[in-house]
Amino acid sequence: MTARRILLVIGGGIAAYKSLDLIRRLKERGFSVRAILTAGGAEFVTPLSVATLTGERCFRELFDLTDEHDVGHIRLARDADLVVVAPATADLLAKLANGLANDLASTALLATTAPILAAPAMNPTMWANAATRRNVERLKADGVAFVGPATGLMAERGESGLGRMSEPLDIVAAVEARLGAGASGPLAGKRVLVTSGPTHEPIDPVRVLANRSSGRQGHAIAEAAARAGAAVTLISGPVVIPDPAGVTIVRVETAREMLLAVEAALPADIGVFAAAVADWRTEGAPQKIKKGAGGPPSLALVENPDILATVARRADRPGLLVGFAAETENVVEHAKAKLARKGCDLIVANDVSPESGVMGGDANTVHLVTEDGVESWPPMSKADVAETLVARFAALHGLKK
Ligand code: CTP
Repeated sequence: MTARRILLVIGGGIAAYKSLDLIRRLKERGFSVRAILTAGGAEFVTPLSVATLTGERCFRELFDLTDEHDVGHIRLARDADLVVVAPATADLLAKLANGLANDLASTALLATTAPILAAPAMNPTMWANAATRRNVERLKADGVAFVGPATGLMAERGESGLGRMSEPLDIVAAVEARLGAGASGPLAGKRVLVTSGPTHEPIDPVRVLANRSSGRQGHAIAEAAARAGAAVTLISGPVVIPDPAGVTIVRVETAREMLLAVEAALPADIGVFAAAVADWRTEGAPQKIKKGAGGPPSLALVENPDILATVARRADRPGLLVGFAAETENVVEHAKAKLARKGCDLIVANDVSPESGVMGGDANTVHLVTEDGVESWPPMSKADVAETLVARFAALHGLKK
């Protein structure tokens, strides 16, 4: 039987109101949901609403004789296939990162053997705070998965930024991805590997060689593939955009790290190489290079491994291998040459000349180049390009089987 028992921890934030909708959406999809409402959470939503929507008692106190009698916090923690913390406040994340257990929610989080998925929600300044960053990094290292936060307007008037809780449907997608339950959709049961963003190649400890890729297109593809039911691993270079919902993210800096992460993530059914990998690196000086009488240093460049071409040559090459071609001139001709040179099945070519506004922008005009010919699409948002591409990948993968 598929794992479908969710323990939802509702923290104390205004986003708690969205957790009520989250319960509804999970139940619609056949999940059973038990909820722990923290004292802070109860300031925003009532235990009665939680109990009504879950169809279970709303669990609140650590030392509640009735709850302890028939459930107990250890069983509450163990009888779950996944623990979802939504909203995951800065306080809850800090407690979990440090192993504190002084109320029912934090105790259950420590006592569970089930995976944990956190949907952070807090003011952008709190999210950016060094202490929160440390806690999140530690939790990720401990295996806690995250969905969001998203960017947008905050409840506080006039404030916006990264810190909004992800929308309930995005959290549901992350739950399904985590439990391997995204059984519907054209890519259900498929493993998709996506690279995205730039790579940073160190010149010395403080300087890097980089490019202008924002990661928007690759991230949108990863998210669209997850929505289509795939189990997605996104290998991302340094980007500042939010994490897409429902995917496993591996963060890397350099091209060589990206290659290692890609190889570790294989096998996959579909590989989409949207990253703008730096073609060259320097040897990387161990100390900061100082200005001196000798004038500017000359940077000796070394060629980076070609990740896409390397994967194309492997015996466990994904059945459908998609490359991107970022060009500033003769877009289609260069893409055709790249298709052959890289050994992939499809190249998504786009014009990234400064006039096009594609690099860092929201829109994209792409051409699909295969052995059979070229198909040019009208200008679209990167989200629409992602959605349409994923539908095409599903169709092509189906044909190849
Ligand atoms: N790519 C890769 N590893 C590299 C360079 C590129 O995997 N070291 C992938 C990109 O992710 C993309 C495709 O190869 O899918 C084409 O990338 P692009 O930068 O357009 O091509 P290059 O091979 O770098 O060729 P050139 O710079 O000469 O255009």
